[in-house]
Amino acid sequence: MVGTITLNSHCPSDPTAPVDASFLPGPVLLLGAPGVGKGTQAQLLVTKYGIPQISTGDLLRANKARGTELGLKAQAIMSSGQLVPDAIVNEMVLERLREKDVQRGYILDGYPRTLDQADFLDETIADPAFLPRLPVIAISIVAAYDQLLQRITGRRICATCKSIYNVYTNPPKVDGVCDCEGAPLSQRSDDTEPVFIERMKTFEEQTAPVIAHYRALGRFEEADGNQGVEAVNAAVETALFHLRNGRSG
Ligand code: AP5
Repeated sequence: MVGTITLNSHCPSDPTAPVDASFLPGPVLLLGAPGVGKGTQAQLLVTKYGIPQISTGDLLRANKARGTELGLKAQAIMSSGQLVPDAIVNEMVLERLREKDVQRGYILDGYPRTLDQADFLDETIADPAFLPRLPVIAISIVAAYDQLLQRITGRRICATCKSIYNVYTNPPKVDGVCDCEGAPLSQRSDDTEPVFIERMKTFEEQTAPVIAHYRALGRFEEADGNQGVEAVNAAVETALFHLRNGRSG
């Protein structure tokens, strides 16, 4: 079966499994507050369409783990809930968009987060050298504050396979252990309530205007994130079809 998503499984799909090649997703932005489910939904779209997820948070954490100069610079900023400077993040994204696997599309998760980043992205992908030559579409996932707090403080991650769990809403079979890898699960250092409060302030001040920017441009829809993962996925897929194919999707 092509494009089947096993929503009750945490484990990454088999990279050799067939994907749905009948639909060209193009560049997709997943926008929304910390913990709303951008990464979870991005992983489902990756499985279905075989396009890459580009998460600036993951790229920064990978730099931190490797101890690069960039990672060391980003560390303190991320722990305080502030944003890493635009120039650093823009350069990282630019480099990633030059790779070949983006030709059918990609999911930008957590980028752009400032109006300067949005301008940079809009200008970059308007250049015909960047594939695919399709306009960006934006889906903003929205959920209530209490849900976000529970999702953030309950999140656990497998460092080996990147599977995302939640001790309240989506726990592993064995406490603290990845279902797929048997590896120990970890908690992000910024997934505490005090840092979440700062991340929410940053989101309201700097990222809410980005959402308004894409809403004003059109090619924008909201998805109700106050539902289970499967229902949010259905809402995201519907928005994706509407925005890319017109209302017939
Ligand atoms: P980043 O890693 O991007 O963090 P974020 O945007 O705050 O988003 P999260 O990763 O916390 O949440 P998510 O929406 O992906 O939720 P998830 O699917 O994991 O950024 C971290 C930091 O890096 C920033 O603070 C900043 O410092 C820096 N940075 C990153 N990008 C930057 C940029 N562009 N510019 C400057 N700085 C940047 O789900 C969360 C939890 O909820 C999980 O436990 C999951 O299992 C659960 N869950 C998900 N969906 C549901 C559901 N529908 N029902 C129940 N539980 C659910």
